[in-house]
Amino acid sequence: MPEKSTGPGSGHGPAAGLPGEYGRYGDLLQPALEALLPSGEGFAGPVVEAMRYSLLAPGKRIRPVLTMVSAELAGGDPASVIEAAAAVEMIHTASLILDDLPCMDNAGLRRGREALHRHTDEATAVLAADALLMQAFALLGAAVAKAGLAPGEAGRLVKAAADCVGVPGMIGGQYKDLHPENTDFDSLEYVHSHKTGALFTLSATLGARLSGAGQRVLECLEAYAKNLGLAFQIVDDILDARASSRELGKDVRTDTNRATFVTMFGERHARTVAAELIETAKVSLEPFGDKARLLLQLADFVYQRKK
Ligand code: IPE
Ligand code: IPE
Ligand code: MG
Ligand code: MG
Ligand code: MG
Repeated sequence: MPEKSTGPGSGHGPAAGLPGEYGRYGDLLQPALEALLPSGEGFAGPVVEAMRYSLLAPGKRIRPVLTMVSAELAGGDPASVIEAAAAVEMIHTASLILDDLPCMDNAGLRRGREALHRHTDEATAVLAADALLMQAFALLGAAVAKAGLAPGEAGRLVKAAADCVGVPGMIGGQYKDLHPENTDFDSLEYVHSHKTGALFTLSATLGARLSGAGQRVLECLEAYAKNLGLAFQIVDDILDARASSRELGKDVRTDTNRATFVTMFGERHARTVAAELIETAKVSLEPFGDKARLLLQLADFVYQRKK
């Protein structure tokens, strides 16, 4: 398969950088993201416009691709989990909007565009992020209904999603990242696994759960996603220290005073840890044999990515 420098969607593809083989997932996703936003009529129109601005901007779409690929791995159809895939991308986009605010990372550039709070205003940006989170959970409700999950399993799935995003997950990690006093290895691991790893875990298990995967499959995917998410954030921190904002489409050197694997242990050691995590992630997929090919490639992409 030829490698494309833009993608994932060949037809709709905003520049993103996933290998070309993922194009068909991007082609499914991009129109779905547009279609699954709330209608923007009336007085609240500008909030929906703000949601569109950030959501449809060229992101890599790694998390929804994980959802669709893991659905396939579990014997499902990527198109049938499109609401869940859109939901994880909405949650992720909301996290980016909030992360860029002046009270958080105070960043001005995101996905190659002005950060949302600069493009509009802070109040609209906060409301757009809240609205993306709400829309994501509305879509998850629709996804569990469409999949015909039993009420108990549907409830557990939505709770697991809320935990990945809330205090036991991403929000807890973001809080500690912004309050880095007394950081040691354990708290650094906590930050990475919560602010980033939790959403990777949700993304990689959601499609499989909606496709009826059993416990053993979910455990393998969870182990894969946990290590992949940690590696992803370490590479993000290396790129923050190394790359230009033109290459990344976002502000750089934002972590100079933060606790990261790079600031605490140096770039070389951070690379070594990321490589080990990627290898461990791949080992978790061994029971799937050839069926895990795309997830194995995605792990290599996370390590090698330049943006
Ligand atoms: C950025 O995630 C936020 C982190 C967890 C480091 P991505 O690098 O996946 O951002 P997009 O979606 O491609 O813009
Ligand atoms: C943010 O980590 C993780 C989120 C939950 C958004 P970063 O602050 O390192 O993400 P970037 O570098 O701004 O994308
Ligand atoms: Mg941050
Ligand atoms: Mg940031
Ligand atoms: Mg970063």
